[in-house]
Amino acid sequence: MSKEFLTFEVMSMPEKWEIAPHVLNLENSIIREILKISSKPGVISFAGGLPAPEMFPLEDLKKCAIDAIDTYKSDSMQYSLSMGITPLRDVIAERETKFGMASKVENILITSGSQQGIELCARAFIAPGDYIITENPTYVGALQAFNFYQARYATIDMDGEGMLVDQVEDAIKKYKPKMIYTVSTFQNPTGITMSEERRYALVDIAAKHNIPLVDDNPYGEIRFAGKSVPSLKAIGGDAVIGLGTFSKTMAPGLRIAWINASTKIQNIFERVKQCTDLHSNTFAQYMIYNFLSAGKIDGHIQRLIKNYGDKRNLMLKEMETHFPSSMKWTKPQGGLFLWVELPKKVSASKLFEEAIEQKVAYVYGKPFFPHGDVDNTFRLNFSNASLEIIPEGIKRLAKVIKDNI
Ligand SMILES: Cc1ncc(COP(=O)(O)O)c(C=O)c1O
Repeated sequence: MSKEFLTFEVMSMPEKWEIAPHVLNLENSIIREILKISSKPGVISFAGGLPAPEMFPLEDLKKCAIDAIDTYKSDSMQYSLSMGITPLRDVIAERETKFGMASKVENILITSGSQQGIELCARAFIAPGDYIITENPTYVGALQAFNFYQARYATIDMDGEGMLVDQVEDAIKKYKPKMIYTVSTFQNPTGITMSEERRYALVDIAAKHNIPLVDDNPYGEIRFAGKSVPSLKAIGGDAVIGLGTFSKTMAPGLRIAWINASTKIQNIFERVKQCTDLHSNTFAQYMIYNFLSAGKIDGHIQRLIKNYGDKRNLMLKEMETHFPSSMKWTKPQGGLFLWVELPKKVSASKLFEEAIEQKVAYVYGKPFFPHGDVDNTFRLNFSNASLEIIPEGIKRLAKVIKDNI
């Protein structure tokens, strides 16, 4: 229809469209709002979950991109399989096996970020009103995905060894959950890692009750201290759905990740994924395949570990010096985040406004709690800010805290 036939009323139609009620109920991501505020000029931000920009292996990725076109020609731009390109799935299966998760190519489905992996799990297992067991707190992006499916939450508190697994069986009996979701290693938001003993116990319970156990593991390879623990997938095999991603070990903008699961469940995920995006970005898959097959990934991760480990050490040292001794915080052995607890009466969300005035930002803890009922915690990211800027940011934050407690 040409423009002169459109009346004003016809042009304004979209405002009148009826949006599905479960979509209207979706909240705007509080984190995105916080990030918007945190990116104001002069603000030192410990808010985002962003990798260090100086660490992207740009030259290598450039070469891998050119090689992808030179080698795979039009295939690198073509539609491809929903499961992902076979050579990439092959090398991922090999790497997973190296980390104790015996896998074959058919166990690996490539996703558009782990966020899609989480979403596919929700699509596959959750009907409106179903319960999901999660840590309390948990990854806010998972809550967003689960909320879309109108999930309810059976939350399990954590201590320094992760989820209090001895409470899971009672929760299963009470709520009949359809899925257990955990970020068991260097958790987002707390940085806490589940102990080995609890890992075995959790896998046991999930298997005994036939409940899918989803282990979302974007940070497991970024360990800069302590002894490594087996992943839940390594312990539980087919009883566990493992989610992995190249977002933190390579570059999040490429949006390439994977689900490692039994072939039976991959058949379901494959169909579910077809409904949403047919397949993940073919070109990015070839790029990443080239990066992996050139043997670049391990050296790159070692450099990341050094960079993030140094930043974490500096941040902890500055906190030790400047934060009031009445406060508690985690000392993560890997990943990107640490977690701070203020005295119970202090609201971290209110304090945030003052922190922004003092030009420093964090993410307050409330949105990470599925029931939104805890407000005296906040998350600090140590991967994104530079070593030069971390001390000043912590000093600013310490002043805000001291003025308010
Ligand atoms: C625990 C967790 N899962 C999933 C994601 C999403 O990762 P991706 O970029 O692979 O979608 C993140 C990103 O911060 C995360 O922290």
